This record gives sequence, structure tokens and C-alpha cells, in this order.
Amino acid sequence: MNRVKDKVVIVTGAALGIGKAASLMLAKEGAKIAVTDIRAEESKALIEEIQNSNGEAEYWKLDVGIESEVERVFADIYRKWGKIDVLVNNAGISGINKPTHKITQEEWNAVMTVNVNGVFFCTKHAIPFMLDVGSGSIINISAVYGLVGSTSVPAYHASKGAVRLMSKTDALLYASNNIRVNSVHPGFIMTPMVEEHFGGKEYVEKGRKFLDYLHPLGHMGEPDDIAYGILYLASEESKFVTGAELVIDGGYTAR
Ligand SMILES: NC(=O)c1ccc[n+]([C@@H]2O[C@H](COP(=O)([O-])OP(=O)(O)OC[C@H]3O[C@@H](n4cnc5c(N)ncnc54)[C@H](O)[C@@H]3O)[C@@H](O)[C@H]2O)c1
Repeated sequence: MNRVKDKVVIVTGAALGIGKAASLMLAKEGAKIAVTDIRAEESKALIEEIQNSNGEAEYWKLDVGIESEVERVFADIYRKWGKIDVLVNNAGISGINKPTHKITQEEWNAVMTVNVNGVFFCTKHAIPFMLDVGSGSIINISAVYGLVGSTSVPAYHASKGAVRLMSKTDALLYASNNIRVNSVHPGFIMTPMVEEHFGGKEYVEKGRKFLDYLHPLGHMGEPDDIAYGILYLASEESKFVTGAELVIDGGYTAR
């Protein structure tokens, strides 16, 4: 308990999957959670769940790909709680799954808008508040697909590779301001994103067996496996960690 007591944490894409698990865990450990997402209904259900366990959370509708929205929402969060300690850049989409030569510019840009521009906009508008406080932790959710290649989702790979290096550059830029920036690299985690990748719930069992096999530990991960890493990076336990890649992948990239 209380590993992140009274920290103000913004989680993007918080309504489902990894963002939801991280929000619940951070709230349980004493943080105030700004739940931000484009999905209002699921976000409100999450707020209720956090409040029912005596946690503190509020919902802001936010599309991370629209800079003016990010600027307005972050200023609002600051007005409500007086500081911003932690930003979890989690919102992401897998996007189009076609070979590179068949992807249209629009399909490519759709992935970059959320996965790369979103991280840029949110970082840009969180940093001034963190400079104000004199500390901060930015946690960028990349993927194993930001570390190694595969034969699927080329735009997603490019976007997650970008997030990995944005994290390192910002880690160096803001280290002297005591703002830490790290990336997290999950293996396959069972979330709505992966269900969609399988082509719907009815294909989950078959798809799961294949994905289980890709991980040396013998199975896919759960959202909480990643939430524990996010909690560590949000807490003071990681005060000497910046520019790091936290790989949580059941051994996927160890080969
Ligand atoms: N699930 C995996 O196997 C896996 C593996 C590696 C990395 N990741 C990364 O983890 C993060 C979370 O993934 P997930 O599996 O929980 O996905 P998910 O699809 O289950 O949840 C993503 C959330 O982001 C929200 N979102 C989408 N576009 C948005 C936008 N423009 N603005 C704000 N919110 C938006 C969705 O509404 C949803 O609530 C993503 O960045 C993803 O790339 C996931």
C-alpha cells in the first residue's frame, strides 16, 4: 500500500486493457488517477470501480492525437489537483495489418497520430507542470515490437520503435530537472487490442495457443504483469532509473 501515495498520475487510454489495470493498481497504491480515454462509458465504469475501493479518480475525455485537447485537459487536471507527478503514455492502436507496399498514407498516418504524435503531445504538455514541481516520471508504453521486427503491422513497429527513442532523448533532455522517462516493452498481453487482432472473441482460444507458444515462459501475459512495471516506474523505488527499457515479455526477446 501507498507506494505512490498522493501522486497525481495521468493515464492515457485508461478505459481498457493495460491502462485500466495500471489505473486500478496505482489507485490502490494511493495515487490520484486522471483517467483519460476516448471511451466515456468504460472510463466511467472504471472510475466507479476505483471509487468503490476508496480510491480517487476522475475522467477526462481525451483523444491523444489532438494537441489542443491534450493541452486543455492537462491544464484542467493541474487546476484540480495542483500538480502532475506521473504521465503514463499508454494509449495506442495496432492499426492496419498489411505488408508495407499495400499500406496507404492515411492508414500509416492513423497509427502515427495516436502512437507517436500522442506521446509527443502528452509529453510536451506534461513537462511544464513537472518542471514546476521539480520532478516527474514519464512512462511510455512501447512494445516488444519496438525492439524486434516481425512480419505483421509495419506501421505499429515503426511507431513503437519511435517511442523507444523518444523516451531515451527525453530522458537525457530532462534528467537535470529530475524528470525521468522510461519505456515499457510488453510481450503479448490478453487485452481487447489482442482480441481484435485475432479477429474477434470467437477466435481468441485458437489465437491464444499460437501466441502462448511465442513466449518461452509458455503463455501470454496479463494486464497486471505490465501494471506492476508501471507502478515501479511511477514510484520512488525507481528514482535512479531513467532512459531504461523495461522489457516484460515472458522471454519473447531473449532468443
Ligand atoms: N496488448 C498487448 O499485447 C500489447 C503488447 C505490447 C504493447 N502494447 C501497448 O500497450 C498499450 C495498451 O494496449 P492494450 O492492449 O491495453 O490496448 P486496448 O486496445 O485494449 O486499450 C487501449 C485503450 O486506448 C484507448 N485509445 C485508443 N485510441 C485512443 C486515442 N486516440 N486517445 C485516447 N485513448 C485512445 C482505447 O479506447 C482503449 O481504452 C498500447 O500502447 C499498446 O500498443 C500492448
